[in-house]
Amino acid sequence: MKIQATQLLTLFLAALTFTSTDSIAQPVANNAKARTPSEYGIVLDESRLTKLVGSKPLQRTMADILLGKENERILMGKIVQQGEVPWQVALVYAGNHNNRRAQFCGGSLVSKNKVLTAAHCVDEGTLATQIAVLVGTLNLANGGNRVSVKSIAIHPQWRVNTNENDLAILTLDRDVSPTEASVVALPQNPADTVDRDGVLVTVSGWGATAEGMAGSDALLSADINVTATAICNGENGYNGRIKSGMLCAGPIEGGRDSCQGDSGGPLFVYLPVPVQVGVVSWGDGCGRKNFPGVYTRTKVYSQWLKSQIG
Ligand code: ARG
Repeated sequence: MKIQATQLLTLFLAALTFTSTDSIAQPVANNAKARTPSEYGIVLDESRLTKLVGSKPLQRTMADILLGKENERILMGKIVQQGEVPWQVALVYAGNHNNRRAQFCGGSLVSKNKVLTAAHCVDEGTLATQIAVLVGTLNLANGGNRVSVKSIAIHPQWRVNTNENDLAILTLDRDVSPTEASVVALPQNPADTVDRDGVLVTVSGWGATAEGMAGSDALLSADINVTATAICNGENGYNGRIKSGMLCAGPIEGGRDSCQGDSGGPLFVYLPVPVQVGVVSWGDGCGRKNFPGVYTRTKVYSQWLKSQIG
């Protein structure tokens, strides 16, 4: 008994040491600048991950397991159950048939054949034929159907250097059936108050579960609150980088957040009718104090979205 306990403690301490070594994840973190899709499809590709982290790939450690941290996904999120976020889709590289490796961004179904995502997910000359939309599964390891993309419409004012107007609409090759995914509503005009400060919102995705960590096979979600721009845009925070078409969401003390690989995915409120108020866009690191996640504020773009969705 005693020996076992000591062994367990040793293992525990060793694992803890492991974790702290692993926090060299920091360099990957600065994501103020949007990246090309090729830099995103890497969440589960360890060789690419090593390149990004500049050291060994980060894995879930024994300490995580002993501390019960394996439930901390997205960042401090929970596993999405069937029917909770039926509008969520994954963007995958058409050329890679392994969904776990091919997934590089999220998206949401906004009509039977249109997907809303982030511009930075599909810019830099991405061709419609190079990507596909995965529908009908919560888990990247099994199930689902891939739908081809017919065309990509990036917001004409998308700016890679400031992350402004980070949204795009994908037109699919066929209608998605109700068993595969269902449509989420969007705010109807810029005066809509659905995204007011403090409101409870949910973000979902298959992205990293901590800075520099691998993505999750299971779709995860995190309940957060809209952060007042005055708070996240202050000197200790984004210091003026939050523009009118953006929204901050997440605790100012850090913790719960979206992360790399979640981009393009939805931030929504249940009213109880679900309305998508944001698109995962960017952040300085993930879950850092003073740097909540930054989302494209969909209501600002209601007119452009209507013109694209019809
Ligand atoms: N740009 C990231 C992506 O492409 C999303 C980053 C979100 N960051 C955050 N701290 N919420 O997946």
